[in-house]
Amino acid sequence: MKIYIGSDHAGYELKHYLMDNFKDVEFKDVGYLELNKDDDYPSVAHDLSNKVLTENGIGVLICGTGLGMCMAANRHKGIRGANCLTSEMATMARKHNNANILCLSARLLKQEDTLEILKTFLNTEFEGGRHERRVELLDK
Ligand code: RB5
Repeated sequence: MKIYIGSDHAGYELKHYLMDNFKDVEFKDVGYLELNKDDDYPSVAHDLSNKVLTENGIGVLICGTGLGMCMAANRHKGIRGANCLTSEMATMARKHNNANILCLSARLLKQEDTLEILKTFLNTEFEGGRHERRVELLDK
């Protein structure tokens, strides 16, 4: 499975931690590709969202809080970004919301906890059923 991943400067270290330590998938880093001090998180979020939409894929976006990345990603119709602070949130984001982008906070989460959050996100299926209708309504 190929997973798109992106970060700003605040998420750069966590992005590399995940790429180095989460071995279950192949990551495609969409940027920023070098550590700077003043990256613009919306640019990465827009690039990654377009890739996820084009390829019907899954993405991970990381910034300081996860909030800015999530806001930018969710401006794209068809993107369902979820800022998850726990594995329980990741479970529900997939089961009920069919989230296709996991947003993570590099400043609020312990690095090692993000491995479980990501694993949960990738291994949990959308439940469908009554949630299908609600997810469709998101884009109306
Ligand atoms: C960068 O300092 C910070 O604002 C950014 O990473 C993110 O947390 C925005 O939502």
